[in-house]
Amino acid sequence: MKNSMRMIGALAFLGASGAQAFDLEAHRGGRALWPENTLPAFANALSLGVDTLELDLAVTKDGAIVVSHDSRLNPDIARDSNGAYVVPPGLPFVQLTLDDVKRYDVGQIRPGSKYATTFSDQRAIPGARIPTLAEVFALVRKSGNTSVRLNIETKINPNAPADTVSPEVFVARLLTLLREEAFVDRVVVQSFDWRTLQLVQKQAPQIPTVYLTQQQGADPNVRVDGATPWTAGFNPADHGGSVPRTIKAAGGQIWSPLFYDVTAVAVAEAHGLALTVVPWTVNTEEDMGRLIDMGVDGLISDRPDLLRKVAQAKGKTLPAPAAVTP
Ligand code: G3P
Ligand code: CA
Repeated sequence: MKNSMRMIGALAFLGASGAQAFDLEAHRGGRALWPENTLPAFANALSLGVDTLELDLAVTKDGAIVVSHDSRLNPDIARDSNGAYVVPPGLPFVQLTLDDVKRYDVGQIRPGSKYATTFSDQRAIPGARIPTLAEVFALVRKSGNTSVRLNIETKINPNAPADTVSPEVFVARLLTLLREEAFVDRVVVQSFDWRTLQLVQKQAPQIPTVYLTQQQGADPNVRVDGATPWTAGFNPADHGGSVPRTIKAAGGQIWSPLFYDVTAVAVAEAHGLALTVVPWTVNTEEDMGRLIDMGVDGLISDRPDLLRKVAQAKGKTLPAPAAVTP
């Protein structure tokens, strides 16, 4: 019974059929291949064939929703009209209009940076701009792919409120756009800041929410023994120290843990609660295979090309390519 509940939840999310359903997600469009969160990256992912485009959002001073992992212009990515990379820490989007944002070139990682070393095979696309979310929707429409979904992340930090709009404004702008663009039924909304997820659940209950967790590192957003500013008042200590049980209590449908945190026991517990489990961000063949063997429902990767290969070898149904150019 528990297993069938889990599959119903997963299939509703994936829009697929059969026991081999799997959610193959291109992280930031597949940033090991093309510049992150750009239209060329999303076009490449659609052309390869993915179930879901993963992307990050910020809101500008004039209320536009743009696709950026960082709430500020990233000094390792953004170059001004003179070709100079922005000076750290970079202006926050909330201080920039959409016209300002469109002046920056995000098509090449700053040579010599740690980021450039990490993604040394990423091809440069000089002139690539920060897209709006509406431009990504237009690209998806152009591709003709009517099944691909978008896993969209509200980038907002409870410890840096001046860098972004409030959770209420962020969600209001996002839901307005999703309704205008008729994309409400093709997205899931993810966040480390669970305040926005709570608002989405109240205001648009048909949109599945994805609870991002990171239990290790210098600044974990979830601790099993206490609340943090990230979790909207929910505290694993009130739920037996269980992260999946906490997410269930918060009303989530999908758990996206840092992949290092994942254990087979935790996946089984989440499935017993009818949660879908989609870890981030998994880039090696070995880790992909290991996590699939643990029973995860999907994976988020900077290497959607490699994930297709591993998923196929594990008997998963592959999403169809939809060739498109930006
Ligand atoms: O989808 C989860 C993943 O994107 C979270 O990490 O920092 O790349 O947004 P980050
Ligand atoms: Ca993200």
